[in-house]
Amino acid sequence: MSEKRKASIQEFREMKKKGKKIRMVTAYDHPTAVIVEKTEIEMILVGDSLGMVVLGYDSTVPVTVEDILHHTKPVVKGAPNIHIIADMPFMSYQASAEDAIRNAGRLIKEGGADSIKLEGGLNYASTVRAIVKAGVPVMAHIGLTPQTASSLGGFKVQGKDAERAQELIDSVVALEDAGAFAIVLECIPSPLAKMISERLAIPTIGIGAGPYCDGQVLVTQDLLGLFDRFVPKFVKQYAQIGQLELEALNRYAEEVASGEFPGKAHSYTMKEEELRKLRP
Ligand code: KIV
Repeated sequence: MSEKRKASIQEFREMKKKGKKIRMVTAYDHPTAVIVEKTEIEMILVGDSLGMVVLGYDSTVPVTVEDILHHTKPVVKGAPNIHIIADMPFMSYQASAEDAIRNAGRLIKEGGADSIKLEGGLNYASTVRAIVKAGVPVMAHIGLTPQTASSLGGFKVQGKDAERAQELIDSVVALEDAGAFAIVLECIPSPLAKMISERLAIPTIGIGAGPYCDGQVLVTQDLLGLFDRFVPKFVKQYAQIGQLELEALNRYAEEVASGEFPGKAHSYTMKEEELRKLRP
């Protein structure tokens, strides 16, 4: 197997041109990043899904820049040869371009990420332009944008009618023009994702957007079966790690209660003669 090496933004475009799929997953901690580093996956997103799958919030809205920074640092350490994208949390870029540049800069400078991602369509093209101009690569994110899901009518497929689909097409064109190096398409119909992917020179990364995107992303907790509060249709569970974890923890609890654990194999001993010298 060839040596793993971090792909450049230019190489992601080349992959698109050659029809090579880009693979992305989320990670929020060092052990997960170390495992992803051992795969052929090219990108890790330290997503604000962190709020729901790790921090126990009901949405991604409460996630802060400090949270993303805190979780990006160990991921960067664990996966030195993977392109790491840090997510811009809600209200870290919406108020002004200055805020956006400052917070994006922190995720790169303090967090060590290679690029940032932000949610939003046409209205955020100027923000993307400003961040890119400041020297930070930006991945855009359109369709179902969880930070503003309530104003989109909940966690629903977006762009099902021509009017809304056209808005999404106009958004991706503007975001590409603003300098985004890739775009996440979340929860949109496959034919629309196909049209968008063919229209753009930059890669599209799909989640619930069908097979025609230039790459795919899934939340790692979803694909490992570690998050079962709800499982969207687009999630494929490749393992049931949550179930394995539950079984292991139950066995541990039973064995401690029964005295079966720790046995000889997991205990330390000392020489009899040393033991005899002791006065309890
Ligand atoms: O935060 C996240 O995990 C995301 C993915 C769903 C793309 O934004």
